[in-house]
Amino acid sequence: MKNEIDSLLRQAPLIALVQAEDTVTAVSTSRALAAGGVAVIEVLFRTDAALDCLDAVAREVPGAVVGAGTVLSAAQAEAALEAGAKFIVSPGLDEGVVDVARSAGTPVYPGVCTATELQRAYNLGLKTVKFFPASVAGGVPALKALSSVFRTMRFIPTGGVSPANLADFLAIPAVLACGGSWLTPANLIREGDFEGIGKLAREAVSIATTAIDSKG
Ligand code: 3PG
Repeated sequence: MKNEIDSLLRQAPLIALVQAEDTVTAVSTSRALAAGGVAVIEVLFRTDAALDCLDAVAREVPGAVVGAGTVLSAAQAEAALEAGAKFIVSPGLDEGVVDVARSAGTPVYPGVCTATELQRAYNLGLKTVKFFPASVAGGVPALKALSSVFRTMRFIPTGGVSPANLADFLAIPAVLACGGSWLTPANLIREGDFEGIGKLAREAVSIATTAIDSKG
């Protein structure tokens, strides 16, 4: 499964965050994202419906690879895997969460933003981490500095990523993909403007394609 996610992220290095109160909204949002070229979807564990949403998106959106985000505990990681999560994302680094995912052979991307946290992740044998909160933890310059030291680590900057800074993050060689909620604004979801979400996805794919081409 790791290879599937890696190869999807190589085509479109984007992870869309979906926070939904009901499965219909989660599925409609995810369909629009996948149709717009963003197939890697992170369902956020911030609503009571998160598990049901994850399960529904996994079953009803062909072509999407669905993971769980904002996973705070080992118990939540277990529940997410049971609901069909193909990857696990945490805001911080928790060994319990990492262990659960790894025991299941599922990719796990814990959040880090300091050299100390990164060194811990490195010594846990992690190869890819979320850089969070990317924009306020120093943004592109901080990530360049960290990645020049942790030379084998790959990063998924998330938190404050937008069309304005997406290309700059993706231009960093160590960046595997960027994640964010700019692809799923609450107002568009509330208004049922799934065409608008598809448009945001296509716009992000276009920025990402140009950034990857210039990376060579
Ligand atoms: C996350 O869960 O990773 C963050 O909420 C992402 O931050 P963003 O909303 O600024 O994209």
